[in-house]
Amino acid sequence: MDEPGPPAGDEAPPSPPTPTPTPSAPDTPYGILIVDDEEAILESLEFTLGTEYRVFTAHDGRTGLEIFDREDIALVIADQNMPGMTGVEFLEKVIERDPRAIRMMLTGYADISSLARAVNTGRIYRYITKPWEPDELRINVKRALESYALSSENSALAGALAEANERLRAENLYLRQEVERRYSFEGIIGESPAMQRVFEVMKKVAETDATVLITGETGTGKELVARAIHYAGTRREQHFVAQNCGALPDTLLESELFGHRRGAFTGANADKKGLFEVADRGTIFLDEIGETEPGMQVRLLRVLQEGEIRPIGSSNTLHVDVRVLAATNRDLETLVAEERFREDLFYRLRVVEIKVPPLRERRSDIPAIAHFFLEKSNARMGRKLGGFSNAAMDLLTACPWRGNVRELENEIERVVVLAGDEPQVSVEMLSSNLRGGSADVPAATADDAEIEDWNLNLSVDNMKRRMIVAAIRETGSKTRAAERLGIPRQSLQKMMKRLGLTDEAVGAS
Ligand SMILES: Nc1ncnc2c1ncn2[C@@H]1O[C@H](COP(=O)(O)OP(=O)(O)OP(=O)(O)O)[C@@H](O)[C@H]1O
Ligand SMILES: [Mg+2]
Repeated sequence: MDEPGPPAGDEAPPSPPTPTPTPSAPDTPYGILIVDDEEAILESLEFTLGTEYRVFTAHDGRTGLEIFDREDIALVIADQNMPGMTGVEFLEKVIERDPRAIRMMLTGYADISSLARAVNTGRIYRYITKPWEPDELRINVKRALESYALSSENSALAGALAEANERLRAENLYLRQEVERRYSFEGIIGESPAMQRVFEVMKKVAETDATVLITGETGTGKELVARAIHYAGTRREQHFVAQNCGALPDTLLESELFGHRRGAFTGANADKKGLFEVADRGTIFLDEIGETEPGMQVRLLRVLQEGEIRPIGSSNTLHVDVRVLAATNRDLETLVAEERFREDLFYRLRVVEIKVPPLRERRSDIPAIAHFFLEKSNARMGRKLGGFSNAAMDLLTACPWRGNVRELENEIERVVVLAGDEPQVSVEMLSSNLRGGSADVPAATADDAEIEDWNLNLSVDNMKRRMIVAAIRETGSKTRAAERLGIPRQSLQKMMKRLGLTDEAVGAS
């Protein structure tokens, strides 16, 4: 701090000597540590380097290491021959602490062969023979510190790069897993034999470019199936685009699918790529294909036959390589019979047909799907509903679910939104139209269309559950419920036990 800047080139020892290590030029960036048992050498080196660097001195290796640990040291100069720890031993310890620090060795011997190996293997940056030329030493130190700066910068850059790479890799992995989790077969819950058969066909067609017609009632998961086929196939790295063909008037749909040239119609201010072009080498999903007009059907037939599209207002056709998946909840065969859907297009689309069964034909999937949505909603809304009471699950499995999986999803979401701090979903929390109520029980004269499940025992049990729950809820006690149901109280008790209905689940006193 109070270092008197010595005149350049003057090697006269400064006064007073520094018996303990003290920083000599605090404003300069690099710290240099000199370790030598000879006071005169320390003084002389400090004199040479002290104006440009922060110089620390020590008489032995142990004190040197203490300073090294405490201060920010870029370069170390050590004498080879010192009592106690030798210079080589000291520098080895420096390497352990920070391998980036530049290490120089002072040697009083002409015989430097013993150091040559250390220099060659990079343990020592260079050696300095005594006596040294001050200017030469300054230049050597300057160069050494430049290389230190570079290596620090490099390692910082390398570190930042490695970190950025790692972050990117993790993000990619996350995104890929996210996509796969959402659309892979694993994302489609279906243990039931009916769904297992669907998965079998999906697996087979995923590996091909075959056009697939996916049919099924609304909300059965047709779009989910389409995405899963795309992401399980060889086109997975390319685009998957979806268009609802029932949502737009014919001309707009044409421009969406095939694109248009600037000026093709009022409002077409620029060229626009159609989805078929966007999906080139990927997959297009034509949802609600049954809603298309005859003109559109002709254009679609052309893409399927020739792989060609013509943007509106263009005189040229474009060739595209697009896999087509289509879906409908209409009965296309009927539409064909009624001449509302082109037969040739129908057969082109239905190279393979996947029929996604309605939820009521795979009731065994309901508990798993319900839990899946419960967890999803819990996570989204920060709730902790731990599951369903037996009675609640009974009701869910017995429901007709005309809106299929989507209706079930909406129901669970509604329950979670409205839930307080209940530990689980109980019957009371379900929508009233699901919850028992004789209005929901099919009349005895129900015609075939009303029969949801042809397994008689199962259906009767489900109906019993719903009636019992409804009766208890309406009358408020098991005794009165038994009266209402026209059975002895004891029978009700037994029946509830067999059907897995607990008192608390049905809210009985
Ligand atoms: N097996 C399943 N497992 C998990 N989630 C499902 C399953 N099937 C459907 N879903 C979910 O249910 C909802 C409806 O599915 P999707 O949109 O695929 O049905 P859709 O048949 O295309 O219906 P629509 O005919 O009304 O267009 C989506 O949120 C979807 O993620
Ligand atoms: Mg759909």
